[in-house]
Order: sequence, then structure tokens, then C-alpha cells
Amino acid sequence: VNFDFSIMKQGNNESARLLIYGATGYTGTLICHEAISKGIDFEIAGRNEADLIKMASELGVAYHCFPVDDGKGWDSSLSGKSCLLNIAGPFAETADYAMKACLKNGVHYVDISAEVLVYALAESKDAEAETAGIMIMSGAGLFVTYDPLVIHTAKRIQDPVSLRVAFKYSGGFTPGSVASSTHITNAGLLVRKNGEIQELAEAIPVAFDFGDGPVQCQPTPLGGIIHAFKSTGISDIEEFFQMALPTDLKNSETIKLENGKIGQSVKAEQSIILAEVTGAQGDVVRSMAKTPAGYMPTVNSAVEIVSRILSGNYQAGFQTPGSAYGERLLDSLDVEIIDL
Ligand SMILES: NC(=O)c1ccc[n+]([C@@H]2O[C@H](COP(=O)([O-])OP(=O)(O)OC[C@H]3O[C@@H](n4cnc5c(N)ncnc54)[C@H](OP(=O)(O)O)[C@@H]3O)[C@@H](O)[C@H]2O)c1
Repeated sequence: VNFDFSIMKQGNNESARLLIYGATGYTGTLICHEAISKGIDFEIAGRNEADLIKMASELGVAYHCFPVDDGKGWDSSLSGKSCLLNIAGPFAETADYAMKACLKNGVHYVDISAEVLVYALAESKDAEAETAGIMIMSGAGLFVTYDPLVIHTAKRIQDPVSLRVAFKYSGGFTPGSVASSTHITNAGLLVRKNGEIQELAEAIPVAFDFGDGPVQCQPTPLGGIIHAFKSTGISDIEEFFQMALPTDLKNSETIKLENGKIGQSVKAEQSIILAEVTGAQGDVVRSMAKTPAGYMPTVNSAVEIVSRILSGNYQAGFQTPGSAYGERLLDSLDVEIIDL
């Protein structure tokens, strides 16, 4: 940890090559602490100066305060950087500004979005990113496990033709996640059929067995229709969540940090991603990824991805965790893979 108080100010620290925007939220705070523990040199940014000053002085990092639509703020904060980690969600409101700033400044873009339309936005910038020599990766949270798990499962079968993924989440939701959930449900019941994205007319629940008997899951576009399609080419994809996403902030009990640490309210159960791949002959394989509950898997995933980028390990263009790093990305995570 750098305790040089002279750099706890607004401005640039020449050795920092990572900027973390939206750093002072729940996940941002956890990510910043994790990045410090991994010895990553970074600066923080966001729109709330009081929170930024507090965090900058606690961590001994420089900060930049600007609203997400401030092009000059982006240019000055991205100067000298090689990677942006955007944690300011809902990403429907921040990703386009941040991606454009990264393209302009030749800086890799990473976020932890779970919003399927933001994945589509990232995909639409593929050619521009390739020309700029930067990687655009939206979804370096859940998908750092999800995407390589799907690659792993698909490799267990000949001619994989269809994929169903069910996600059982354990832990609470932050206000940012509740706001993002509204964007996910408003996107519609999106699936991929014969390679094309389509919208289902009706939400028909499907039962999946995560190990304790069948659980009814709701069709929910988690983003695999874009990510798993890119990383595996499987042309029929449907996704399910074990509950209806919380979209009403007034009636949702949200989680928050207590003194910068995860509170006791987060249950100690695991979260589980279940991937089910069907082959051309009708045979089916299933694999599960079990991760710790709550937001720590996302924190570790995002820090793993930016560490790789900072060490020069990236591919230009729109990438998913699986397309850039493959199945073996799982080896770097706190995740248990079970082949059923
Ligand atoms: N897929 C995953 O694995 C995963 C996991 C965890 C979180 N997430 C997503 O990450 C996002 C952040 O989650 P969180 O837990 O950190 O939520 P949070 O505690 O509510 O914090 C949200 C942060 O984003 C900032 N922000 C929001 N809208 C902004 C805007 N228009 N301009 C600038 N800053 C803005 C907030 O700034 P203010 O304080 O100024 O409002 C705050 O710093 C959410 O979208 C969530 O869904 C995804």
C-alpha cells in the first residue's frame, strides 16, 4: 500500500495504468481493496467528490471527479492509462460514454455489467476496438465463471447444438444491482434461436436440479445469448434465474458495506451456475460451477481480468472472458467445477 499522502489528490499518478470509475459503490470499494492487496497501481474516479476524497485518502491513491458524460474528464483521467474498469452501474447509463472515451484514448475497456443490452453495445464496437488496438470486455463479473464453464461443458460433447444455463444466486443485491435488474427485465425475454436473437412471448418456468432436487427457474436474459454465442458458436441459447430479479428499490432489502467490509447479512450458501449442453444426436451433458455467495466472485474476477490486461494479456476487439482467455480461466478463480 502506498501511504505517500502527496498523491492523495485530484490528478494523475504517472505509474498508475488502471483507472477504476464508479469506485466508491459497494462493489467498487471491494474491488479497490482487492486491487491494493494484489499490488495493482490504480487511480479512482466517479461523480461524488466527498466519497472519492474519503476513499482516495484511505487507500493512498489519486482521484478524478467528473460526471460520466464529461469528455474532458475522461480524456484527462485516461491520460497515461492502459485500462479502464467501469463499475458505475446501471451500465445502460454509463457504458457508452466510457467505451467511447476508451476508443478515443486507446485504453482497454472492462466492466462488470450483467445487462444484456450493454453486451450488445460492446459487440457493436468490435471493429472500432480492433482498429484502436484495444479490448472491449463487458461482463467481467459473473461471466468470468459462466463463459469458461460453458466452453468446458460444450467440450464434453460432440457437435454441441443447444445450451441452457440456470443461475442460482445466493446473497443480497445492492441498489446498483436492483437498478441494473430493471434494465435486464426491460430488455425482454431474449433467447438465441438458429443463431438469431429472438424474444419469447411468454415466461414459462423450467425446473433445474442444482443438487437438492428440482427448482423452478424463470427465463431471464443473463447475457449468454451474446457471450456464450461468441465463445462457443452454439446457436440456440436459453437462460434462467432461480427467482424473479428484484427491480423495485422501494420494496427490496439491499445490502451495503459496514465499515468498508461485507456485512453479516450475506448468507454463507454458495451461488451455482448450471450449464446444460445438448449435442446433435440429442445427448445431454451438464456441468456446474459453485462459487462463494455474494459479490466476492465478481470482485476477484474483475481484478483477475484487469491484472491480465495490465500484463499485456488481451485480444483486440470485442471479447468475452471465454473468447479472450478460454476454459482455463477457471483455474484462476475460487470456483469448484462438477461434471454431472
Ligand atoms: N454481473 C456481476 O457479476 C455483477 C456483480 C456485482 C455488481 N454488478 C453491477 O455493478 C454495478 C455496480 O454495483 P454496486 O454493487 O457497486 O452498486 P452500488 O453500491 O449501488 O454503487 C453504484 C456505483 O455506481 C455509481 N453510478 C451509478 N450511476 C452512475 C452514473 N450515471 N454516473 C456515474 N456514476 C454512477 C454510483 O455513484 P453514486 O454514489 O454517485 O450514485 C456508485 O458509485 C451494478 O450495475 C451491478 O448490477 C454486476
